[in-house]
Amino acid sequence: MSEIAPRADLRARPRRLRAGDALRRLVREARLHPEMLVAPLFVRPGRRVREPIYSLPGQMRFSPDELVREVDGLVEAGIQAVLLFGVPNAKDPGGSGAYADDGIVQEAVRLLRARNRALVIMTDVCLCAYTDHGHCGITTGDDVDNDATLGLLARTAVSHAASGADIVAPSAMMDGQVAAIREALDASGFSQAGVMAYAAKYASAFYGPFREAAGSSPQFGDRRTYQMDPANVREALREVALDAEQGADIIMIKPAHAYLDVIRAAREAVALPIAAYHVSGEYAMLKAAAQLGWIEERRAMTEVLTAIRRAGADLIITYAAADAARWLREDTGG
Ligand code: PBG
Repeated sequence: MSEIAPRADLRARPRRLRAGDALRRLVREARLHPEMLVAPLFVRPGRRVREPIYSLPGQMRFSPDELVREVDGLVEAGIQAVLLFGVPNAKDPGGSGAYADDGIVQEAVRLLRARNRALVIMTDVCLCAYTDHGHCGITTGDDVDNDATLGLLARTAVSHAASGADIVAPSAMMDGQVAAIREALDASGFSQAGVMAYAAKYASAFYGPFREAAGSSPQFGDRRTYQMDPANVREALREVALDAEQGADIIMIKPAHAYLDVIRAAREAVALPIAAYHVSGEYAMLKAAAQLGWIEERRAMTEVLTAIRRAGADLIITYAAADAARWLREDTGG
């Protein structure tokens, strides 16, 4: 009985295609590329300021002049899109710094635009970093007033577009925010400015480091009356459909790492590009574990970003954008 034919179930040997690096690359399904990465950046008033953010290792708050230098470096590394967040000096109940012509984001956008025509400049549109109560809209008593907030979000978006932003990204999770912004942009002569809608934005514990970076924690209550319940995916599809109907150009799912199923579901539901936001806490926990020597940073970060891509994201917003671009270049010998 020595000449037995190979067992049928061993004709198929998936290991054949894993035998060497070239073979593995040849059949790889999901790839990352620096062109699909968006770098989130924090900008604050001042000159020559690069202020490290303790809870986001490797990230800083930049004054506009330093932001311009930082972005030059990112572009050099192959990153072609940034998402800006403002950290203003002053806050008030109406979040007026968000839509001031001389606001910090407006100033930064004008400088970046003058410096680089090709860069894709995206801006976060929200009030939470500008209101003294830290909520994403204006409040009436303890309630975040949806309809009264829409006009201020629209004003903020128009002022960003007027400063030179290509894409505005409303993150306040107010109902109707995409339509309000689309209408205001069109009425103000910015029909070419795009909207990247934070369509499914969950009330997540993973925004902690960001709130420290932006000083945007709510001073009372939490964001659960406007951000989504982490348990829900059908509701995410409803939000995605509403934002698509209201004229969104790009649909965002946020967070990303813990919401891969939501990214996949959104990918299958709409034809629009899907962006996934690998948020501050998701980045910070990898950095922290790596600092403790518990995981290998490069491999772990690459694995997570690749998983987000595999789930169906076309764009990935990540604090690891610069590192990933460098790793990808090393990887391809470029
Ligand atoms: C503003 C906003 C937040 C984030 C992006 N836009 C914070 C929040 O909703 O509290 C989080 C980004 C991150 O954690 O990296 N509303």
